[in-house]
Amino acid sequence: MNILAVTSEAFPLAKTGGLGDAVSGLAHSLAAGGTRVTLMLPAYPSTFDFLRNARQVALLPDLPGGAASLWQGDCAELGVPVLLLKNDDLYDREGLYLTPEGNEHADNAIRFGALAHAAAQVAKGLPNVTRPHVVHLHDWHTALTPLLMHQLHVDDVKTVLTLHNIAFQGVFPMAYADALRIEDRYRNDEGLGFWGQMNFLKAGIRYADLITVVSGNYAREILTPQFGCGLEGVLSARGSDLISIPNGIDTELWNPEADSYLPGWGFGPDRLGNKALCKKALQRAFGLEVNGKATLMAMGSRLTHQKMADVAASAIPLALDAHPNLQVCVIGQGDKGLEQALLALEQRYPGRCGVHIGFDERTAHLLHAGADVLLHGSRFEPFGLTPLYAMRYGTIPIGSRVGGMVDTIRDPGKDATAALMGTATGILFDGEQPEDMAAAITRALVLRNRPAIWRAMQQNGMRADFSWLKTMPAYLSAYQSLRPDVALGRI
Ligand code: ADP
Ligand code: GLC
Repeated sequence: MNILAVTSEAFPLAKTGGLGDAVSGLAHSLAAGGTRVTLMLPAYPSTFDFLRNARQVALLPDLPGGAASLWQGDCAELGVPVLLLKNDDLYDREGLYLTPEGNEHADNAIRFGALAHAAAQVAKGLPNVTRPHVVHLHDWHTALTPLLMHQLHVDDVKTVLTLHNIAFQGVFPMAYADALRIEDRYRNDEGLGFWGQMNFLKAGIRYADLITVVSGNYAREILTPQFGCGLEGVLSARGSDLISIPNGIDTELWNPEADSYLPGWGFGPDRLGNKALCKKALQRAFGLEVNGKATLMAMGSRLTHQKMADVAASAIPLALDAHPNLQVCVIGQGDKGLEQALLALEQRYPGRCGVHIGFDERTAHLLHAGADVLLHGSRFEPFGLTPLYAMRYGTIPIGSRVGGMVDTIRDPGKDATAALMGTATGILFDGEQPEDMAAAITRALVLRNRPAIWRAMQQNGMRADFSWLKTMPAYLSAYQSLRPDVALGRI
């Protein structure tokens, strides 16, 4: 079966968060299992660097935003073919979605509308480009595609839309409908209309053949007004066409035994010795006192309201004041005000708190490998890959009791012996106040003072199987249910 996965991010070609990890992890494991999957994304600056044998396969003269070309090459890291949509006016600029000042690119409707048009044309059929049996779309940036395929009467190719985060919907003035060539019959609430504007994600939810959500708990949450972001009604209306398939993690890339970013420092559940070396390196990298006895708590995420970075900026000083043995390191970028609030903590707690503003894969790996505890507060969290990376490296996550984290983190509860019985892996907390988060940090520190329980929790997390191999069969059955006429493994 030929799958075309259309996305705005795919690691290592382009990534701002977990979307890029999840899309690539799934594609890589599908390809390894014999499914022919092709990734399609915009040609951002330097994406061509990841492709071998790149060649132009199609010219699309009439896309929104102007003529574009499609280039196909092979990505060695992922082991899959990649199609890049090239239109330098739209994509050859800094920032996937935002300007360096942190504002949305003013033409995002056209940039991602053009991507959806190109995907619909591939689905309809282009000479020299493999025609897919199923088009798999990820998040709002690609979610216009099923509507455009409907408009083009492409009925034989089926569509799956995966919801990674419905807080981002691609809402734009309806005035874009002409430029995006949306026929009149769709410019209403039955189509992509949303309170007088257009909503890319809503279009996808209405017209995709199947909708998948990245965790079971988030799939339930988004049917409620609290988490549905105004789409709960449209989502509920899809009934059994909305299913959950949890993400996996790339266990080769995130492998404490052999992490290519940390050569020579391998460790595993039964030999944690080298974790201490990673901790020292992490303390040095963040200008912290090099002290093996300190508890080192890390935070590595987008610094946004979703990730409770505002709450963390207040909770971290509470925790540092209450626990003299605690150290904190933060890597992240996002809202400028939140970046400043966290940077101020570095000044306030020299040697105990280090903050790096930026996005850097190597530091993210060192952070998970070297820390004792990961702080990962979220107001909502569709899946949450970061706590799983932490667990894999024996770092105990503290997460909010929302979204996917409810499914993946096991809290020992009051009965800490659960950890010894092989279940507990982390701490979950309720609430959005700094005191709620600080209390969760205190709980972690109390458990850390009980070495047998702590070690058991570390080992439970390190041994848990969150690999794509475990979760990929659910995607295969989803594709098969849409195209029972095509054999899955045929290349
Ligand atoms: P989200 O997709 O909502 O950001 P996830 O936890 O699922 O949350 O995935 C986040 C991914 O982005 C992880 O791979 C994490 O390491 C990475 N990441 C986020 N911010 C940074 C950063 N500043 N530096 C390095 N990696 C980051
Ligand atoms: C989104 C979500 C995150 C999820 C990731 C991959 O960015 O915010 O929770 O893990 O997508 O699905």
